[in-house]
Amino acid sequence: MSQTVIAIDGPAASGKGTVSKAISEKLQFNYLDTGKLYRAIGAKYLEGYQPIAAARSLESNDLDKYDLQKPEIAQAASEIASIPEVRAALLEFQRNFSQKMPGAVLDGRDIGTVVCPDAKIKIFLTASLEARAKRRYVELNRHDKKISFETILEQIRQRDERDQTRRSSPMIAAKDAKIFDTSKLSINEAVDKVFNYIQTKI
Ligand code: DC
Repeated sequence: MSQTVIAIDGPAASGKGTVSKAISEKLQFNYLDTGKLYRAIGAKYLEGYQPIAAARSLESNDLDKYDLQKPEIAQAASEIASIPEVRAALLEFQRNFSQKMPGAVLDGRDIGTVVCPDAKIKIFLTASLEARAKRRYVELNRHDKKISFETILEQIRQRDERDQTRRSSPMIAAKDAKIFDTSKLSINEAVDKVFNYIQTKI
């Protein structure tokens, strides 16, 4: 029996992290948040490391060293993610992870298009810029009351633009991906919709 790969892509704050984690728990599949890899390299870059060297020497404990939720790390992640050598350095790890038994859920920007083009199930989650900025605002202001809604909206807008227009593996829905717009959905509704779809494909 071959393992099942579920690729979940989408822009920042589309709900893909929460949905992917919930799906992996329901199915008892392995879960990889690939954004964390880029964020850890972004964090190292902010510390003065050269991004390609940081990507090639990335270790699993690098993922626990930083507060990867910080907006400045997200921005740096999006910047270093446009470097083809950085992306290439992460490919093998992601592909090996996708082969874990009994299955794997990977979320990111290019999972269905580049990392796992043969994934059995491909999902692309999206939502309006305003809905996504509102979610991130609520999330971030639990910890940091200083960041305004306008700042978050602008940061996400810039990140979307950079992620969509880079030449190397831009964020785009795979042709065979099922697209869900989560703008008007609660997180439970989004999980249910995606899970129901996955069940029809498994
Ligand atoms: O999913 P996230 O917001 O944690 O990702 C942070 C940044 O990392 C995102 O703006 C672009 C980059 N990224 C990427 O280029 N490819 C991926 N598969 C995952 C993330």
